[in-house]
Amino acid sequence: MMKNINPTHTAAWQKLQSHYSDIKDIHLRELFGNSSRASEFTIAWKDFYVDYSKNRLDATTKSLLIDLANEVDLKGAMQSYFSGDKINGTEDRAVLHTALRDEKESAFAKAEVSKVKASIKTFTDAIITGKHTGATGKQITDVVNIGIGGSDLGPVMVVEALQFYKNHLNVHFISNVDGDHVAETIKNLNPETTLFVIVSKTFTTQETLSNATTVREWFVEHLNEEAVASHFVAVSTNLEAIADFGIASENVFPMWNWVGGRFSLWSSVGLSIALAVGYDHFEELLTGAYEMDVHFKETPFEDNIPVITALLSVWYNNFFGAETEAIIPYTQYLHRLPAYLQQAIMESNGKSVDRNGERVTYETGNIIWGEPGTNSQHAFFQLIHQGTKLIPADFIGFKKSLHGKEDHHDKLMANFFAQTEALMNGKTADEVAWEMAGSTLSRKRIEQLTPFKVFEGNKPTTTILIDQLTPKSLGALIAMYEHKIFVQGVVWNIYSYDQWGVELGKQLAKQVLSDFQNVEKSQHDVSTKSLLNHYKNS
Ligand code: F6P
Repeated sequence: MMKNINPTHTAAWQKLQSHYSDIKDIHLRELFGNSSRASEFTIAWKDFYVDYSKNRLDATTKSLLIDLANEVDLKGAMQSYFSGDKINGTEDRAVLHTALRDEKESAFAKAEVSKVKASIKTFTDAIITGKHTGATGKQITDVVNIGIGGSDLGPVMVVEALQFYKNHLNVHFISNVDGDHVAETIKNLNPETTLFVIVSKTFTTQETLSNATTVREWFVEHLNEEAVASHFVAVSTNLEAIADFGIASENVFPMWNWVGGRFSLWSSVGLSIALAVGYDHFEELLTGAYEMDVHFKETPFEDNIPVITALLSVWYNNFFGAETEAIIPYTQYLHRLPAYLQQAIMESNGKSVDRNGERVTYETGNIIWGEPGTNSQHAFFQLIHQGTKLIPADFIGFKKSLHGKEDHHDKLMANFFAQTEALMNGKTADEVAWEMAGSTLSRKRIEQLTPFKVFEGNKPTTTILIDQLTPKSLGALIAMYEHKIFVQGVVWNIYSYDQWGVELGKQLAKQVLSDFQNVEKSQHDVSTKSLLNHYKNS
């Protein structure tokens, strides 16, 4: 079982605090005086090369952070995580998305998982090959995933990421309850050749049920009620609600309560992924994640990618006071990765009550944001380079492109390497003045301009360089972040696998919806009430 240890009460935390005072003003340029630094702070594992040497740490920092992990009993917590203890304490559930990709015979619920995987394979093969046709005998050309949060972000991120591996099926995603999203998506679809996959773990989510209802009505208007069976499938744990919605049990792909929504792309929730890239690629995605699970479970903390990256994140969050972290993938294929990680990381670790039910006295979950490089360089990098905030960033890049155009890839990767070097070194006033000395500018003008052109540098980055973007390496990358989330939650002594914070807004939205009928009688504050009046009376 997990031990509920306040991290600030550990000896390592105290030592890290005084160590922080020693190291906080040391520039990365100085730390690189140690010529073995790059090899000392790099982890090479399979096709991953993770260089974290451009971070504000030295050997003492690393060993104190590992002491911290030991003192909060990370090992024991990992044991609980992988063996299916109910580590989601407030919902009394195990957290076993890792079992979905575990190749071992002994894995949790192996038989059930295998059965569902086999049905995903059979179904996706039938759709892709055209064996399963629509009600009028036409082959399926389009797939629409209807879901939100974990029932959307993982699948859409992976489908986008694996576009290179895609087959002929056009895959669409409807998530937002905003009618524009559903209207725009269905307007060009032919119901006779479209498959709808309704994904909702609970099958109670307002957005998903509204969109699914709208789509079903549109479908029945164009075809008929009997045709629904050949065009609608559902993924859920709530079999009763699916039946009420009118989807036959043979069209249901089950999932389980021990799989959290934001960690569910490995389950039937990944059906649209398997449809888009074929079942074999889906399996490879799972294999990559499994390999990362094994790395995480079996590698000493010193060389353990999720452990080290999580501890670095704690280091910045709790000692440097960094509030945000940027994720910058250097491939357009990963353009939805930051959005996916926003849910995975912020819904997991955005908590302020510890596992003892006490208000925490230290910072927890970081704010995650990002966009692909090089576009982000032309947008917000100014602030990372010269703003007042410390923003640790993950740079994710690939040695080989999938398109094979070396010229493009070299340009992309030159930016990838240049940015982390620039962020680390910065540019001193002397360097700036030296650079301008050869220009036609007067000495006075050079003096005036120098402060604006100085880059302090000392901005931390972690470089994650992977051989190539494949289903397998993508699986490993996602699993790396999943375990990083877990480690941080253990250190912060919080429950990472519930999400009570989304409930209040959901409840109130239901109330507001019914109050639209009679705003005057409703019980809201004066601001909300006048807004409702303004909305309804305009
Ligand atoms: O927004 C909260 C949440 O419960 C997420 O955790 C989840 O991924 C999403 O809603 C969708 O839930 P469901 O799959 O049950 O529709």
